[in-house]
Amino acid sequence: PAPGWSVDADVVIVGSGVAGLTAALRCQDAGLSTVVVTKARLDDGSTRWAQGGIAAALGEGDTPAQHLDDTLVAGAGLCDEEAVRILVTEGPAAVRRLMATGAQFDTDEAGGIHLTREGGHHRRRIAHAGGDATGAEISRALVEAVRAHGVRTIEHALVLDLLTDAEGRAAGVTLHVMGEGRHDGVGAVHAPAVVLATGGMGQVFSATTNPSVSTGDGVALALRAGAEVADLEFVQFHPTVLFLGADAEGQQPLVSEAVRGEGAHLVDADGVRFMAGRHELAELAPRDVVAKGILRRMLEQDAEHMYLDARHFGAAMWEQRFPTILAACRAHGIDPVTEPVPVAPAAHYASGGVRTDSHGRTTVPGLYACGEVACTGVHGANRLASNSLLEGLVYAERIAADIVREHADGTLAPRAPRPLPDTGRPAEPLLAPETRFTIQRIMTEGAGVLRSDASLATAAQQLERLHAEALGALEGDGKTAEPGVDAWEATNLLCVARVLVAAARMRTETRGCHWREDHADRDDAHWRRHIVVRLNPDRG
Ligand code: SIN
Repeated sequence: PAPGWSVDADVVIVGSGVAGLTAALRCQDAGLSTVVVTKARLDDGSTRWAQGGIAAALGEGDTPAQHLDDTLVAGAGLCDEEAVRILVTEGPAAVRRLMATGAQFDTDEAGGIHLTREGGHHRRRIAHAGGDATGAEISRALVEAVRAHGVRTIEHALVLDLLTDAEGRAAGVTLHVMGEGRHDGVGAVHAPAVVLATGGMGQVFSATTNPSVSTGDGVALALRAGAEVADLEFVQFHPTVLFLGADAEGQQPLVSEAVRGEGAHLVDADGVRFMAGRHELAELAPRDVVAKGILRRMLEQDAEHMYLDARHFGAAMWEQRFPTILAACRAHGIDPVTEPVPVAPAAHYASGGVRTDSHGRTTVPGLYACGEVACTGVHGANRLASNSLLEGLVYAERIAADIVREHADGTLAPRAPRPLPDTGRPAEPLLAPETRFTIQRIMTEGAGVLRSDASLATAAQQLERLHAEALGALEGDGKTAEPGVDAWEATNLLCVARVLVAAARMRTETRGCHWREDHADRDDAHWRRHIVVRLNPDRG
């Protein structure tokens, strides 16, 4: 449907996690008229759920060069070294600016920032807040600042499509807004700079640490808009997610790597530690190594999960250092003070996404991406723990600086959006909301932690069938699901799932978090490269 209302701005930011709100603050403070649109409430995205913290070379003796080395090792040969150098070099100052914005990190006895360790880091490098509630504190501080600085916000606004002008430059976005009074129904924000900060796509799998809003909306929009997307096959599975049963679906409670960072052990069904001997860092090996170690042991023992044993912390340390995790475990009848915690890997982070340069620019002029939706090149084949909040911060600031620059030189003048094609029917079939669960089951069975050509081929076939059925109905009698958030989310999930499976099938090697049963080795001769996908090239 044609937009029923519109708002004009210099920049529209889609999403309200650490990346979106940081970009918004910097643009607003530079005098640009800035609008943030977000699918649910301002603090409903993934940032709020981040536990462990934010990595930066802030400790005595630590250097950006050491942080760079750890990031490159975790990324398994596919990081863009220059993108990582920017991240680790600009990171410490960006964290300090975040503190100046109001975020309060936990301190040590001397009053400095207390730093913990996580997998893949050779040093204590992770700043945290509220013990294990780092994301909640960052989100609180940024939401308060955005309100105090007068940034315009539209909540409950699902982004639909990118608007472009006659030359193919970004000109704004269309939105479906529910219950915002003045901005109800389908509308548009017109702006020459559009920043995607929509977060990840964990909901493409049955069990994930991601909240229900993480449905790949930004990547799907970018694909529809003809932008390049890269590295979608690299889905990171967090090794230690509270195991609530083999059939558990939706968002699952995370048990932060920081628990291992402070000395917890992974033990098998017989109570035996199994990571020592598999990697020099044992339980603190990079995340993909630990997830694989857990899954291998589960297969060897025919077990549904392993255990994380931190009884030796004692009650006081659990309460003070990990209050969120303690409460989540106890809410599910497990007391980590007296018993080992059952854990298993679950989908956690999309290392790939919308491809950008070092200023966050995508391949569509005027369209930027930052945070989990983006593929800046810093994560390669496997993100280093706690680099994601940092990436959101650093690259959001770079995007804001680029937008301010381009605005000043006149490149970002208001653009007349091309009218959307009005064929009287939607351009793509909307899926029935319940299709979401079918997609999740297909993806978990066929494209989960352990993949093979056979499992991926089955997944691809099943996903294509869903698409063909929806398309057939649309082209036959014009039938499509009722437009609404749930239908759009299912549609976006199918869009990203199809590309993810195609890329995972194409990459016939095991690298980082992409694990192929039928191609067990890393194949640098053929695969030290990225899989870049571009649909709808006539649009970008
Ligand atoms: C965690 O606390 O284990 C999550 C950290 C991350 O995903 O970077």
